[in-house]
Amino acid sequence: MGLQHATVLNTHSMPWESGLDYLRTLAPAFRDNLGPADLVEANFAKYRQKNLYLDPQTTRRLDLVQLEAGYSDLTHCCHDSVEEGFLLAGNVTLDGEGALQTGDYFWRPPGWIHHAQTQPGVELLLGFEGQSNESGPVSRHVCSAHLAGANHLIAASDEASLGSRGRLCQVTASQLVWQPGEAYARGEGALAGFDLAHLSVRVLSRNPSTGQQTVLLRLAPGYQQATAGFHAVWWQMFVLTGGVQWGGEHFGEGVFVHRPAGAVEAAMASAQGALLYAKIDGWMDFTPAAP
Ligand SMILES: [Fe+2]
Repeated sequence: MGLQHATVLNTHSMPWESGLDYLRTLAPAFRDNLGPADLVEANFAKYRQKNLYLDPQTTRRLDLVQLEAGYSDLTHCCHDSVEEGFLLAGNVTLDGEGALQTGDYFWRPPGWIHHAQTQPGVELLLGFEGQSNESGPVSRHVCSAHLAGANHLIAASDEASLGSRGRLCQVTASQLVWQPGEAYARGEGALAGFDLAHLSVRVLSRNPSTGQQTVLLRLAPGYQQATAGFHAVWWQMFVLTGGVQWGGEHFGEGVFVHRPAGAVEAAMASAQGALLYAKIDGWMDFTPAAP
């Protein structure tokens, strides 16, 4: 039993990496642009993370990040990559963008100049798309503070500065409508075998050309997929609350799953219900496995 192809991480059993360890995993173009060298060490002691996903080819990554109370970026900056975050606890002020609270989400296309600072501390899922159809490598350019909210790479008046999904500075997830599963499925291709009656979806960001998306999936108690099957694209999920039963195992709060494109896995169920943060690399079509 167990999942056959997917990678499963229980973040509760992973140690935190200190910010100083994290520095070593960064691309040199990022690492060397963090600010005055003598301050970097003290500042990164307030930063810790658990890496959920890292693709060395594209520099694409997803981390569970904690910034301690009083953390403040040493400089304003921007990236060639999309940066994306969902706040699990605490709050953070992003200069040029907004004051984000628990449950808020952002998707920042390449080039937008920002600076993060938190008084009480913050925990978030933090991602970089890296080199893909949606962005460039995970680099870091130091920018001057008075340019907060401007774009360093593309004129803000140019629609191209909106990137592939738009500039979403602060999406308050709790204020988005839940799309019923049956309605959501109309835009996704075949979802045969999904339990659409027990599914609802909040779309946090979406690429309208490719279907690539970041969503909250709410599984009602008793959710039960009809069959094993596969998605055409890779699929990632982080359990926010509740839990799912999948491949003979139970995945509760804090479990992360990366499912490769085309990977046949068992039907998923949720007896008690679940709230999932999911990233999907295209339309969420689903094909039942041959019996
Ligand atoms: Fe950033």
